[in-house]
Amino acid sequence: MTQILRAEGIASYPNPLAVSATTPYGEARAAILSREGFDAAEREISQWPGYAPTPLHALPALASRLGLGALWYKDESTRFGLKSFKALGGAYAVFRLIQKAIAAAHGGHQATPAEILAGQYRDIVSALTVTCATDGNHGRSVAWGAQLFGCRCVIYIHATVSEGRRAAIAHYGAEVIRVPGNYDDSVRHAAAEAERNGWTVVSDTTYEGYRDIPIDVMHGYGVMAREMVRQLGDELPTHVIVQAGVGALAASVCAAFWLAWGERRPVFIIAEPEQADCFFQSGQAGRPVAVHGDLDTVMAGLACGEVSPVAWEILSGGANHYATVGDRFALEAMRVFALPQDGDAAIVSGETGGTGLGLLLAAAGEPAVRQALGLDANARVLLIGSEGDTDPVIYREVVGRSAEEVLA
Ligand SMILES: Cc1ncc(COP(=O)(O)O)c(C=O)c1O
Repeated sequence: MTQILRAEGIASYPNPLAVSATTPYGEARAAILSREGFDAAEREISQWPGYAPTPLHALPALASRLGLGALWYKDESTRFGLKSFKALGGAYAVFRLIQKAIAAAHGGHQATPAEILAGQYRDIVSALTVTCATDGNHGRSVAWGAQLFGCRCVIYIHATVSEGRRAAIAHYGAEVIRVPGNYDDSVRHAAAEAERNGWTVVSDTTYEGYRDIPIDVMHGYGVMAREMVRQLGDELPTHVIVQAGVGALAASVCAAFWLAWGERRPVFIIAEPEQADCFFQSGQAGRPVAVHGDLDTVMAGLACGEVSPVAWEILSGGANHYATVGDRFALEAMRVFALPQDGDAAIVSGETGGTGLGLLLAAAGEPAVRQALGLDANARVLLIGSEGDTDPVIYREVVGRSAEEVLA
């Protein structure tokens, strides 16, 4: 039996299946996420209009308040104007789909972003329809990619996706349809509609017989991980905390760090909401298990009940600890980021972006948890700020000010 430590707003246990730090990345993992796949995503995405690496903030004052040696926050709030890292994934998968359709019609020609943006293959691109289910940010990325490159897009959202998030997707010209049930129900709905209409599903999660597109999504996310590797230089973190919904983000970061840093890669902590803890549950079972119910959490991007099987293939060995975080601490994290300590930058983080700091805040008063996770004065912790104020109305309610006011 795994020994789970529980305290208010936090639970954690070490992954019994974790491989040792010296384990090479290996061929089985490279058959899913590869150096070449990450290279290709970087090459293509860096040519898109508006591409710029997002900031990596060092937060020494907050680190010292939390009793840590160092703290970094990768701030995705400015990614392509979409306010989350998700801009990298869904849109890249749409791009790859278009590239493949053009290659099929033009003797294998790999069209460049510039050629597609110039409308050189408009006849092929405009005949494509992409679709997906989303809790907000992934759909926004797919819709944006479809609009940018010129294909049609239909997006499905479930019952509890906020109106602000619905409107943000519609803003990119997609048809947005709300369906009953939770996220996993909307995934099944999108798959059925695509089958019926001859559309292509651009999902961030894999299922039986469907892997290539979610793998493109994960390679797209790798652009963010590669930026962090460059920004950190020789200052390697000892720990990285990555929030997980279906685990595509976490698997991408885990793989990219493993490939870049090998045995020097950081201790990898997966953080999930208490109410949507499919990795936490799967880790105990030693295989993917589904979590049911409405998965209601303020960390909207993490309200997923089923792990992505290919993400599981990377993370089941690559994760060192599984942890859950209470909603209260994710909200507290948003407020702490908005009111910085001496000299630290003010940061706009949405509910899901605050998960990692939420975990640190929940662990702060719990010596046993801190010790188990190695969160002490020698720890140099990297947090993934996966989103900014993706829903500005909710952001203002939680923080008491708008993003603009926080950054003024
Ligand atoms: C802002 C944000 N962070 C993290 C995640 C988690 O990503 P994944 O579902 O790949 O685990 C999501 C997913 O939607 C998200 O929107």
